Amino acid sequence: MTDWPALRAAAVEAMGHAYAPYSHFPVGAAGLVDDGRVVSGCNVENAAYGVALCAECGMVSDLHRTGGGRLVAVVCVGDDGGLLMPCGRCRQLLWENGGPGCVVLTDDGELSMSEVLPHAFGAADLDAAAARHAG
Ligand code: THU
Repeated sequence: MTDWPALRAAAVEAMGHAYAPYSHFPVGAAGLVDDGRVVSGCNVENAAYGVALCAECGMVSDLHRTGGGRLVAVVCVGDDGGLLMPCGRCRQLLWENGGPGCVVLTDDGELSMSEVLPHAFGAADLDAAAARHAG
């Protein structure tokens, strides 16, 4: 069972470090790793608006920086601690690092990544293409 209150508290803590002077929309993300670690990140914006880093980007960097593994549960929050859905790009990051069984806490309850990003493109598609070319 995921300790959602603890994971959500980690996301809120991370949100407090956000650098969002342009959108004034701080975001925090926290993820439970399959070895029990908790990783987190905040959004970091830029004067060149398009290169802003989402909170999930920082969380995934934290995942790899602290030893890798697979995300099993993720929560994203805004400045009021309310739940946020990961943006489309970040859903792809979660798919890569958690896969279909990773669970996201939403206002509609716990949703698996296969529900959050149905019909996802992933590493298996690259493997399938490589196999076709080899054959
Ligand atoms: N943002 C995130 O950090 N994660 C998301 O999944 C959605 C959007 C950030 C990017 C930008 O700094 C701010 O929220 C407003 O879009």
